Parts: sequence; C-alpha cells; structure tokens
Amino acid sequence: MASSEREYLPDRLYPWEVQKGLATGFAGHWIEYYTELPSTNRRARELAAVNPPEGLVVLAEKQTAGRGRLGRSWFSPAGTGIWMTLLLKPALPPGELPKLTLLAAAAVARAIAAELKLAPLVKWPNDLYLDSRKIAGVLAETAGQAGGPGAYLLLGIGINVNQVSTDFPGELREKAGSLRMSLGAPVDRIALLRRFLTVLEEEYVYACEKGFARVLAYCRQHSFILGRYVEVRSGDRRYRGRAVAIRDDGGLELLLDDEGGTVGILAGEVSCFSGAHEQA
Ligand code: BTN
Repeated sequence: MASSEREYLPDRLYPWEVQKGLATGFAGHWIEYYTELPSTNRRARELAAVNPPEGLVVLAEKQTAGRGRLGRSWFSPAGTGIWMTLLLKPALPPGELPKLTLLAAAAVARAIAAELKLAPLVKWPNDLYLDSRKIAGVLAETAGQAGGPGAYLLLGIGINVNQVSTDFPGELREKAGSLRMSLGAPVDRIALLRRFLTVLEEEYVYACEKGFARVLAYCRQHSFILGRYVEVRSGDRRYRGRAVAIRDDGGLELLLDDEGGTVGILAGEVSCFSGAHEQA
C-alpha cells in the first residue's frame, strides 16, 4: 500500500494528549517529547545526569539511531510506533534489576491485551510476539552509580503499532509485525501509551513492595517459548534444549538435549525452533 493511501489516526504523542486523564502517581508526569531523536535511551541518559524525578518519559516520533539489545539497531520510523524510555529509580537489590525487563515486557503485553483484546506472548527476557512476529522489545540500561542517589534504570520500550508489512525493510519483513497488522485496523497510540504507563506503574509499585511473583506468573502463563526447543546464546556459550521454566530468579531453565540435565540462564538471546533443527 502506498503511504498516501494509508489511513493514519491523526495522532501525535504530544505530552498534553498523553497526560489527559492519565491517573498515575508518577509515571509520565514529566514527558520530554521530540519529533526526532537518535535514540530515546541516549537522551534519557543525558537527562539522568541532571537528577530528574522518577517516572520521566522520553518520547520520539522517530529515532534515527534506535538501539536494540546486543548492539543491534531498532527500526523506528516516524509516527507509526511508540519509541520511549521511562526512567525509574528502583530501590531494589542489584540482583532483582533484570526482573524489571520482564516486568516491562509483561506490562506492555497487559496494556495491549486490555486496550485491544489481543494476546501477545513474552519471549524471555525482553520481546513480545503476536502471530509469531516480533511486535515489541525492551532495552533496559542503567545510568549513574549503581546504588547511589543518581542511579537510574532506563527502560527503553519499542512497540510496533501502526506499521503495515511493506513499511518494514527486507530482512525485517519476514519477522516483524505490528498491532495494526494483527488487528486489521489502525491503533490509537495515545490510548495505548496511557494504558501502558498505568499498568507499568501499578506492576512496578507492587513488585517493589511485594516481589516479582505476579510478574513471573504472567510471563509463564503468556510465554512464547516455554515447552519449545530453543537455542540460547549467553555470553560466549550456546545452549540447546527445551525451555522448561522461568525460575523465581527470572532466569530461563533449559532441559539440555545433549548433556542431559538442566541449566538456569540469567541473561541471553533465544532463538526458537519448531522442529529439532528448523528455525521458527
Ligand atoms: C530489542 O528488542 O532488542 C530491544 C528494542 C528496544 C527499542 C527501544 S525504542 C525506544 C528505546 N530507544 C532505543 O534506542 N531503543 C529503545
């Protein structure tokens, strides 16, 4: 479809539109909005140096150097997605911080389910899949001295909202999807963002007070990989086997196919296989 034929909702993620009726305690109370940025995470890191309040959101309609995990780039065309970074100051032990990536992914999934009645799945630890296509990712980074007063967690969130298939460049077209592609209709980005901020804050406050059991339960119930045969790259190591559990520490448990036994992996990159050697 040519872009001139495409119907977009005339939405811009203006702070005053997002904040209209936003009932959070702190998330999104301060929004920095840009029509274009290299990367919202990069801008959030600059802002973290001037000690902003927790809950600051950096939003861009377009990123020219959007970043994904493991040094990859993140395709961020103008006006079609939600490209944002949320700054948090979690008073949690360092070992708990990786679970905030899962928390953010679960919050995006819950917001999409509540707003659009779609059912995305969480691909441990940071991706969301819908109709077997990646529709969102989380890039969590730290800024400032860990444990110090100026320490921040930068939760970078990318959600493919209103792209159509031909918007994605060649190599992404096979793998990437959008909410619009699954729903068959354009999506109101403002309503979705407002819902995400509300759900994220609610989950975050709950987890900081009561722990991550609820987030972990959600990720297990809505998992893209549990029960599947996967390969996980973690640092220099590669593991192959069946994904059998998300552990209470947030790690992925694999039942190894060659050595036997299980292994718990705290951080890594998962590829899924539908059969023993065929990549899904
Ligand atoms: C991944 O799946 O690898 C994570 C993708 C994270 C992309 C988002 S878009 C907003 C924020 N700014 C960035 O440069 N990256 C994150």
